[in-house]
Amino acid sequence: MRLALGVLASGRGSNLQAILDACARPDFPAAVALVISDRERAPALDRARAAGVEALWLNPKDFGDREAYDGALVRELQARGVGLVCQAGWMRILSPVYIRAFRGRAINIHPSLLPAFPGLHAQRQAVEHGVKVAGATVHFTDEGVDTGPIIVQAAVPVEPGDSEDTLAARILSVEHRIYPEAIRLFAEGRLRIVGRKVAVNPEGRG
Ligand code: GRF
Repeated sequence: MRLALGVLASGRGSNLQAILDACARPDFPAAVALVISDRERAPALDRARAAGVEALWLNPKDFGDREAYDGALVRELQARGVGLVCQAGWMRILSPVYIRAFRGRAINIHPSLLPAFPGLHAQRQAVEHGVKVAGATVHFTDEGVDTGPIIVQAAVPVEPGDSEDTLAARILSVEHRIYPEAIRLFAEGRLRIVGRKVAVNPEGRG
């Protein structure tokens, strides 16, 4: 049985697309069961529908507060038997309601080499800081913003003429590689959270 994935995406959905493409390969150990967006017109929802995957818009205006919204998120994901949630450009802060329900079973991608540059505009921060190496991180989700245990990272060079956009594009190409890689590691049972670290077992479960 392939691991059922839920994907939370607010926008463009290029990481969602990389995940959908990976799931289309016969040997990939996971399949997307549901894509949820907080924005009605998110291109991510169109990408899901085009791949024949259920796409759900959950409108924040229909809920009294963050906890009520996240409660609905959790119910929808659990109703589809989701075993791993992937936040892929999810622009809402997630409350403890969600974190508690999916602790150790929710992951996020962030466009920096964490713990450098958490939060918004990571690529801009990298350019402004003059770092020579940037990159992307897939990590487990915890209560903080981009603070959870790190699963996979990939580095890219920062070129002297880089703008925020050129650097973002370079980082994005490695995001699309490492997100499916992290999902595979999880699905194969090769990740163990030990304190704030993730131990990666090089051997699959068999
Ligand atoms: C990516 O850069 C991701 O790292 C960040 O938000 C962006 C989402 O892009 N969390 P996309 O919607 O997957 O194209």
